[in-house]
Amino acid sequence: SGALVLGSTGAFALHLATAGLDTVGEVDFDRPLALPPLAPSTEDPSSAKVFHLEIQSGQMQFTDGGPTDTWGVNGAFLGPTLRAKRGQEIAFAVRNGLDEATSLHWHGMHLPAVMDGGPHQEVRPGETWTPQWTVDQPAATLWYHPHPHGRTAAHLLRGLAGMFIVDDDGSEALRLPQTYGVDDVPMIVQDRKFDGDDQFDDAATLFGALGVTGDRLLVNGTVGPYFDVTTRLVRLRLLNASGARMYHFGFSDDRTFSLIATDGGLLPEAWETDRIQLSPGERAEIVVAFEPGETVDLRSYPTDIGGVMGRLDGFADRLDVCRFRAGEALADDTEIPAVMGTAPDIDAGAAAVERSFTLGGDAVNGEAMSMERIDFGVRVDTVEVWGVVNDNGFLHNFHVHDVQFQVLEVAGEEPPPHLRGWKDTVPLLPGEPNRLALRFTGYTDPNMPYMFHCHVLQHEDDGMMGQFVVLGEGEEIGTVAAASAHD
Ligand code: C2O
Ligand code: CU
Repeated sequence: SGALVLGSTGAFALHLATAGLDTVGEVDFDRPLALPPLAPSTEDPSSAKVFHLEIQSGQMQFTDGGPTDTWGVNGAFLGPTLRAKRGQEIAFAVRNGLDEATSLHWHGMHLPAVMDGGPHQEVRPGETWTPQWTVDQPAATLWYHPHPHGRTAAHLLRGLAGMFIVDDDGSEALRLPQTYGVDDVPMIVQDRKFDGDDQFDDAATLFGALGVTGDRLLVNGTVGPYFDVTTRLVRLRLLNASGARMYHFGFSDDRTFSLIATDGGLLPEAWETDRIQLSPGERAEIVVAFEPGETVDLRSYPTDIGGVMGRLDGFADRLDVCRFRAGEALADDTEIPAVMGTAPDIDAGAAAVERSFTLGGDAVNGEAMSMERIDFGVRVDTVEVWGVVNDNGFLHNFHVHDVQFQVLEVAGEEPPPHLRGWKDTVPLLPGEPNRLALRFTGYTDPNMPYMFHCHVLQHEDDGMMGQFVVLGEGEEIGTVAAASAHD
């Protein structure tokens, strides 16, 4: 028989045979869900809101074993939740206390390229980086993480990540749950593997095709968390901060819940569903209703998305995420308003330019990321339509810096409801090309690029990324400033 075929094909077949049979991710739910603290801020003389962030190494006790070596922001693992309001000027002092260069990128934020925290804004050991900009986008759940060239996976999965909540006048006036940590709960979901010494096991799986995946789920750094519910309605801000795993969230009794926001902010109206899928980097805000005294678990359910490759990608695993334990008396003073945010309304018919992007083989359109190469320039205030295709069958997705875009089509059809809001990251499944409409506004710089890339971290690090600049009227593509092109 073919059972003893050697080499990668044999190993591949062996993995196929066992994928989906593991009972991974079942936990006892015996630890309270950690809640990242809200980051304190000070006011500088110009009245900007200033956050001090210290990137540092530390140790965390995740399980009953020994401590794990970690990195964190203002703590041992993950970072505080940043919160700012539309119209507010914000400033940061980001100090790198590690012994290697890293960066902090503000994922989903509309801001000048030089403040973006991408690979061109590395902070060397002992240095402090001081970006500053005015928040100018609707209320949304954004996040932050390192983006050093070729080392994003290692730095993010070691623990450098946090949430960045944007509020606006409209969102504050809504009666949605919005008491942080009580009925408005951040959930940073990551899969990790621990080795025999209780350290993060960073050995790549699947011959490196996906990078690091794990059989343990951490929610805000907690393994097997429970959350004590004190209100009838609870808003969960779900963030997939994993390296490669796709989640398909739902509750153990298949109850429905309301999707109220996608990456870029609130939907016009809530969408009732019993499952929500998130690829790495994507966020979803959901509101769930609880009955007094009940217990229900949030899980990630198997899905056949992606077919055989999806099984390899871990979609076939059922994972326990978090247990919700409702108290006997639940406060009931919030509601889901009939009208919340605004729908994307880009006039794709007015597109000045169409571009196409094919992701495969550690490259986009056959070219691996180069720090010195600017792939194209976008004219400010014009509409572009981008066609994006997964060319090789593994899970990919597509993230664009600086902008929230509109999904026009998925596989030739109108996008499903969970992709109809503003997005900065979309899943890119085999055989399902996406058409996106984008409009870049406000900030131009011919010499400092923004990134577009697959948010499967190993793919991004291996080169599935490119760079573009936003050009003002009459400007031409420049050259990346030499000082920032180090790697
Ligand atoms: Cu969340 Cu370019 O990254
Ligand atoms: Cu990819």
